[in-house]
Amino acid sequence: MFKEPIVVLLFAALSLVAAPTPGAAIYQTRCASCHDPLHPRVPPRAALQKLSRPQILRSLYFGVMANIARTLTTQEKEAVADFLGRPGGDAPPLPSAMCTSPAALTKLTGSWNGWSPTTTNTRYQSVGLSITQTQNLKLKWAFGFDGDVTAFGSPTLLDGRLYLGSAAGVVYALNAETGCIHWTFTANGPVRAAPLAVGQSLLFGDQSGWFYSINAKSGQLRWKRRVDQHEAARLTGAAVAKDGVVFVPVTSWEEGLALNPQYACCTFRGSLVALRVSDGSVVWKSYLVPPPTKLGLNSAGADRHGPSGAGIWSAPTLDPKRGLLYVTTGDNYSSPPTSSSDAIVALNLKSGQVVWTRQTTANDAYTSACGNKGPNCPIENGPDFDYGASAILVATADGRDILLAGQKSGLVYALDPARNGEILWEARVGKGGVLGGVQWGMASDGQQVYAAVSDVLRKTRASTAPDDVKTVTVDAIQGGGLTALRVIDGKKNWHVPGVPCPANKPGCSPAQSAAVTAIPGAVFSGAFDGHLRAFAAENGSVLWDFDTAQTFKTVNGVTAKGGSMDGPGPVIAGGMLFVNSGYSRFGGMPGNVLLAFSSEP
Ligand code: HEC
Repeated sequence: MFKEPIVVLLFAALSLVAAPTPGAAIYQTRCASCHDPLHPRVPPRAALQKLSRPQILRSLYFGVMANIARTLTTQEKEAVADFLGRPGGDAPPLPSAMCTSPAALTKLTGSWNGWSPTTTNTRYQSVGLSITQTQNLKLKWAFGFDGDVTAFGSPTLLDGRLYLGSAAGVVYALNAETGCIHWTFTANGPVRAAPLAVGQSLLFGDQSGWFYSINAKSGQLRWKRRVDQHEAARLTGAAVAKDGVVFVPVTSWEEGLALNPQYACCTFRGSLVALRVSDGSVVWKSYLVPPPTKLGLNSAGADRHGPSGAGIWSAPTLDPKRGLLYVTTGDNYSSPPTSSSDAIVALNLKSGQVVWTRQTTANDAYTSACGNKGPNCPIENGPDFDYGASAILVATADGRDILLAGQKSGLVYALDPARNGEILWEARVGKGGVLGGVQWGMASDGQQVYAAVSDVLRKTRASTAPDDVKTVTVDAIQGGGLTALRVIDGKKNWHVPGVPCPANKPGCSPAQSAAVTAIPGAVFSGAFDGHLRAFAAENGSVLWDFDTAQTFKTVNGVTAKGGSMDGPGPVIAGGMLFVNSGYSRFGGMPGNVLLAFSSEP
């Protein structure tokens, strides 16, 4: 009987020392209401605890929990994943998935380094694949990203090796001919940007704001650096390099953080950072908006800050002849709007100084809070016409240079780089919208520019929370379309509308938001319906069509299927075509596969 008080005391003492971890506290306030009671459609806490830490983070960043987790900071997401998830990473690849002779290179020649085969960002592969070969393309191998629901890593191909990241943050070096794994490297966050090969180094950023240099042969880390101190910073665009300096575009997901009425919106500033390839030291960092100041309170009583935004989502375009770099910018997040949002901006390669700015949509301040008229929606309230795609620099037959840029507004612009970006012509290729217009990228063979549009129509289903978190669906008929414009004057040579989805295919939309890729005589465009199609450059007729929304047997033994195609488009080199399939965001069809096609058996 005398023991009891001691036990009680011991318990009291223990609870004094062992205050709940931050992760446990977040779980209690943000997750437990759904995951603790046993509900048929909610995985219970015990099921979540079977997942690895990266799998939980993936779900919070990209999976079914993305909307719920949007208002959590990076640290909070990591804390709750630490608390719930199994320690360590995902299971290592199966031994049978590894290349048996790591040093052996394939016979495959041809390259695609970073966002485009050239630093002019044309996404035009001039060698290695003809129209006839395109019509004979067959699946050679498939590779699965274990446990992922989205496949969005943009590949780089060099010396027969394919380098690409994944939603889990694993970067792979694969044998391009067989898909066997040479090595893997695990980054801090998901890796969507194409790794850029410079000498023996691979340079890329992740979605948590870290930039890495790793040894391309071995996958060993050389150096890493967080290129922006803002907690919402993320790196989505590929880098470009020149003369030992690498240029890194910086954007953020602060628009999503603004969903929380108590969040002090907004303080992130888009920037371009120049780092020395040798050690990652900073040469310059050029911000695209002035520093924010405190401007009062929002209607929920949280601080308001501005200006902010103008993130750079895509790879910079090099113009060594003029000593310039071109970047395209996103919207502002808070008032006051600035002249640098939704713009094409030319910066001096050496100093980072802004040489000229061509804004195509003024007064565009927006956050995700505008979707439900939250306190952090600025008075401008959109239209959210970011540039998500890189500018393309082409030389015309008569020796002029033209800079092409496609916007979420559904407009394509041609600018004159010789005259401070003066607009030469503009052409409408789609309706435009928050998720509309040109999203990831156009391609150009010099004569025509090929612009595919999303114009996805999202529909919100009434939620019966807590058991129904999938409240977003997509319209099966509206959206998509591919237009070929003449580079010299913007004349519309042809237009092919999006392909309506069959009935009863949930998550299917005709949207063509993925980046397009061109070869001599053809252009490839993936759609949210899961199809990758090749169109004739001459008239837009379909030359080849492959439905990726199916289950595949993979070379690495991972269960994998394709789904909606979005994000970086096909990469073509050495007569092969590589493309990802599966996109769980925006109501799309999830998937986790990388497909490699070849015209040779
Ligand atoms: C409004 C209710 C609700 C809240 C709040 C909620 N969840 Fe969920 N969660 C669900 C439902 C429902 C599913 C299953 C979704 C499906 O697959 O259809 C789910 C699925 C998941 C999964 C995926 C499980 C798997 O097998 O892949 C993870 C991980 C997860 N939740 C983590 C969290 C965390 C961490 C939090 C707190 C930050 C959280 N959830 C908050 C309802 C909720």
